[in-house]
Amino acid sequence: MIWNEVTKTIAHRRSIRKYSPRPVTAEELETILECGLMAPTGSNNQRWFTAAVTDPALLEEVGVLQKKAMLAMPGLPASKLENLKKPDFSPTFGAPLLLIVCKPDGGHDIDACLLGENMVLAAESLGLGTCVLGSVTMALHGEAGKAFLKKLGVPEGHSCVYGIAVGAPAEEPAPTPREKKYAVIG
Ligand SMILES: Cc1cc2nc3c(=O)[nH]c(=O)nc-3n(C[C@H](O)[C@H](O)[C@H](O)COP(=O)(O)O)c2cc1C
Repeated sequence: MIWNEVTKTIAHRRSIRKYSPRPVTAEELETILECGLMAPTGSNNQRWFTAAVTDPALLEEVGVLQKKAMLAMPGLPASKLENLKKPDFSPTFGAPLLLIVCKPDGGHDIDACLLGENMVLAAESLGLGTCVLGSVTMALHGEAGKAFLKKLGVPEGHSCVYGIAVGAPAEEPAPTPREKKYAVIG
């Protein structure tokens, strides 16, 4: 394994589920968003759109939709259900910034995912934490979700692929295990 600035940034990233209330600066946000746009896309179509949400009222609103979507999940373990019902539970973990990664009708998830990974690693390189949130996908797929995207100014015909919570980390989780799921052929 070769260790350099990039590989160390990749290795150091963890999903962060506890954030300090310090806001993400405008310069940090611009860096993250611009790094997202540097990702590859099929035929350079750039079929993606990111809504960067920092307004506490809008974060609260998406949190309510997330909670509703999570509570409707079949087979939710009792421990998770208990956690969700706590009045202070924040599905975005109190992050001051939520990136909502969208794609237009006919766009590919893969483009949106490459964009997001660039943003996640850019955030990590700035000392910020992130957590990819599938719960945002569930929250924003219904009619209420579509209305919310419209309110954010997401262009017509776009849907949410996933969300990314971003902020200064207030925890240092240990790495989660990885299996060697690759093969070198030849
Ligand atoms: C598609 C996707 C959806 C995820 N959704 C959530 C989520 O809704 N809530 C959450 O706490 N973590 C979520 N995660 C984070 C994963 O749980 C996390 O990446 C995984 O456990 C590995 O841990 P690590 O990111 O710290 O390496 C999601 C990750 C991905 C890629």
